[in-house]
Amino acid sequence: MKAILIVIFALLIVSCNSSEVKSLELSSPNNAIKVGFNLSQSGKPYYMVTKEDKVIIDTSYLGFEFKNAPAFDKNFIIKNSEIRTFNETWHLPWGEQLDVINNYKELKVELQEKVSPERFLNIVFRIYDDGVGFRYEFPEQSRLKEVEIIEEQTQFNLTQDYKTFWIPGDWDIYEHLYTTSRLSEIDALKYVGHVNLAQTYIPENAVNTPVTMVGDDGLHLSFHEAALVDYSGMTLKVDTENLNLKSHLVGSENTDYKVKRSLPFNTPWRTIQITDNAPDLINSNLILNLNEPNKIGDVSWFKPMKYTGVWWEMHLGKSSWDYGMEMVGGHWTDTGKAHGRHGATTENVKRFIDFSAKNNIGGVLVEGWNTGWEHWIGFEDREGVFDFVTTYPDYDIAEVVRYGKEKGVDIIMHHETSSATDTYEIQQDAAYALMQKYNMHAVKSGYVGKILPKGEYHHGQHMVNKYNNAAIKAAKYKVAVNAHEPIKPTGLRRTYPNIISREGLRGQEFNAWAEDGGNPPEHLPIVAFTRMLAGPIDYTPGIFNIKFDEFKKNNQVNTTLAQQLALYVVIYSPIQMAADLVEHYEANPEPFQFIKDVGVDWETTKVLNGEVGGYVTIARKERETGNWFLGSITDENGRTFDVNFDFLDDNQEYIATVYKDGKEAHWDKNPLDIKIEILTVSNRSKLTLELAEGGGVAISIIKKD
Ligand code: NOJ
Ligand code: CA
Repeated sequence: MKAILIVIFALLIVSCNSSEVKSLELSSPNNAIKVGFNLSQSGKPYYMVTKEDKVIIDTSYLGFEFKNAPAFDKNFIIKNSEIRTFNETWHLPWGEQLDVINNYKELKVELQEKVSPERFLNIVFRIYDDGVGFRYEFPEQSRLKEVEIIEEQTQFNLTQDYKTFWIPGDWDIYEHLYTTSRLSEIDALKYVGHVNLAQTYIPENAVNTPVTMVGDDGLHLSFHEAALVDYSGMTLKVDTENLNLKSHLVGSENTDYKVKRSLPFNTPWRTIQITDNAPDLINSNLILNLNEPNKIGDVSWFKPMKYTGVWWEMHLGKSSWDYGMEMVGGHWTDTGKAHGRHGATTENVKRFIDFSAKNNIGGVLVEGWNTGWEHWIGFEDREGVFDFVTTYPDYDIAEVVRYGKEKGVDIIMHHETSSATDTYEIQQDAAYALMQKYNMHAVKSGYVGKILPKGEYHHGQHMVNKYNNAAIKAAKYKVAVNAHEPIKPTGLRRTYPNIISREGLRGQEFNAWAEDGGNPPEHLPIVAFTRMLAGPIDYTPGIFNIKFDEFKKNNQVNTTLAQQLALYVVIYSPIQMAADLVEHYEANPEPFQFIKDVGVDWETTKVLNGEVGGYVTIARKERETGNWFLGSITDENGRTFDVNFDFLDDNQEYIATVYKDGKEAHWDKNPLDIKIEILTVSNRSKLTLELAEGGGVAISIIKKD
């Protein structure tokens, strides 16, 4: 690892009269993006951001309102400022690429109140070629020991009425469909009362992040946060008249402040990715770079992998998580006796192991293996319901693990906490120790339902700590975590690389049961430029039985089969589920070959084209083999692109197997029409890709020896 640190010192002589303060200014390494910082007449801190001299963020104020102290909003002077340049290249233990360049210029502004109590606050800006991150630092000081933050007053004052891709600022869940509208037309409150959600709370006209915007001039912006640690998640309140966004932290019904911290501490970074086109948003590593380096050391015990699982069959209603729930006299009743529909049986799991072993798939997820599912949802008091060590009588965990080991397949653990967080915390050590005993290195956790203790929300400080602490504890047992109903990713996988993936969006499961028709074809072409900018997604692609009428007449997947294959490349995760039932793969061996072949851990990623909400094409080079895989997906519009294969190695021929939409393919009318073609390609090749409405293309590009 190479790190160059150049420190340039700039000590500002500032007079007490703030009107004489010179504005501080610093530009990105390539000089295109500039941040200006200054204080108003009354000593209010503000900043501005420009790109190539165009104002992107106009005068935007910064500060805090506290419960236990006067606000941090005015009467500041600049005591000191420092500038430094940083450039390093670091390695991702697993990821979209091997090497990450972290090159920025930093401006640290040290503020002091000029009136009593003369407290201190630092604001640090890091300016990259692809955007800006800034955070507040509360240094140790004698006149401020602890803060109770009622609200953070961070503004983003925009200068255009951007086309905006947004979900509501829900304090409890991110599982909403995106709306595309002008910034001035955002109406988050229209999402209140969604029928499909076990928890949701949208108090304001605010959005969750990442929120992505495209200007009429082609400028692309995405707002998010990095390194969310011991703080509340930030939503952005929208002032539709003045085109202004303002931080609105997630709160709690149990306290009249939103964040409580002892000094010294730093807030998460507030991030603005700024690019000239959509692909560069995906290419940006700004969020990862703003996180601290690996704190848990070697994680080679976690291997990126594909997995199958006892999962989709429950969402389709073919089998159940529980063992003995029956309808008795119009009520679901725990009979304590096997009803015969339980999915997680030793026998069924062995079937998945056999299939995975034959098909280059490293893991099998088993949901519904443990006691508690009879009482997990709809019950007010879920504490004490789930048990993370006790199996149902028809599931022999030791035997399943032994059988998996014999066949080279790992079992992925499942912990549905049902948001009974105390119950989970009490059992965590025992639960992770059980995994260690069986050499299980990955857990999928779930947080369905309203948080217990009552009054807390999934995205508030209380839960941010619970999610982070669970992952930190898991690392001690060599366990990697894939949380569902999680807190949003903020790049913490750099610091804790056992945080492998998560949900945090409307996943594939909605297609199985959502009453609103599931995820429309535009969903993933939006997700690629919004949620995916924050980190890996456990979307669970690969549904071949697209219409599944034999299970659910009113639901279906709203893409073509070829797009389901393309998602393995487009939607990044170090664990990728082959989510459909074994029998649906066995009946379709030709398209399944792509899932068998596709990599999960990448040396390089190239985003070849894209338009937010329209389409995206990504090529990734697999670590170790040097083989490439390409995925391209589109929304409800069919598209034709020319793709240049100049990303391939020099002097190397490859066999390309192209899985494309057939001539008659259409996400609704004919989703299964797929054509497979085999070609020889090199870095001089060009290919025309034709994507059907809601379609896609997947290509495996394997080195010829
Ligand atoms: C919601 C998760 O997203 C889903 O994948 C899981 O099967 C259920 N909860 C049950 O835990
Ligand atoms: Ca979910």
